[in-house]
Amino acid sequence: MRMPLIAGNWKMNGSLALVEEFGRAFADVSLPVNVEVSLMVPFPFLEAAGRALGETSVTVGAQTLSDRPSGAFTGEVSAAMLRECGARLVLVGHSERRTLFAEDDAAVLARVKAALAEQLTPVLCVGETLEEREAERTEAVVLGQIEAVFGALDEAERARLVVAYEPVWAIGTGRTASPEQAQAVHAAIRDCLARYGAGLAGGMRLLYGGSMKADNAAELLAQPDIDGGLVGGASLKVDDFLAICQSAG
Ligand code: PGA
Repeated sequence: MRMPLIAGNWKMNGSLALVEEFGRAFADVSLPVNVEVSLMVPFPFLEAAGRALGETSVTVGAQTLSDRPSGAFTGEVSAAMLRECGARLVLVGHSERRTLFAEDDAAVLARVKAALAEQLTPVLCVGETLEEREAERTEAVVLGQIEAVFGALDEAERARLVVAYEPVWAIGTGRTASPEQAQAVHAAIRDCLARYGAGLAGGMRLLYGGSMKADNAAELLAQPDIDGGLVGGASLKVDDFLAICQSAG
């Protein structure tokens, strides 16, 4: 079946000291064996995080990447560079990238392809704004974001993605989608993926993100189509993040 994935998204937060703290804490606990854990840290911490977590089963990931393989793109970071620095996963299309850095569906697709070309696992983020939800456009928006990427990939490529549903109104707001609200969108995403094949839909991991915390993770993760979490704020506190990882087991 689908192995739950708990991914921490530090965003532009943290420090080398926090990386070390996580390394020590994770070395001291036993995580549930049936749960995959990944920490998406800022670029400059990738190598240190790989070292600090090296004795644990926690993998390291990045939060974005360039859509180009190399060249005169000052300030950009390529998939191959991330791979060389130890990243195994990379977030693509996080709502903060879409809104603050003008990444549209075409830009998101190009980054997914760049990640796949270097054997990174893209975690494709999708989600609706509050306005879109109130206009009853949630499914149209979310499934549109899904199809913009899945429709442009081949069968083997599609199977290598992870999807994270993050309602924009729940990100960093303390306002979590209810388990029922989240489950309804996850089920719609899985139905949509079934158009590409029952195997793909059945195997695809769908993470929930948006104010997931130690005290609400268990009921979200208990939903049949929620296969893990993308955790922002609570992934910066080691005890909270550990508690969420434990509750996925
Ligand atoms: P949050 O962030 O858990 O702080 O709401 C989630 C995310 O943006 O990935």
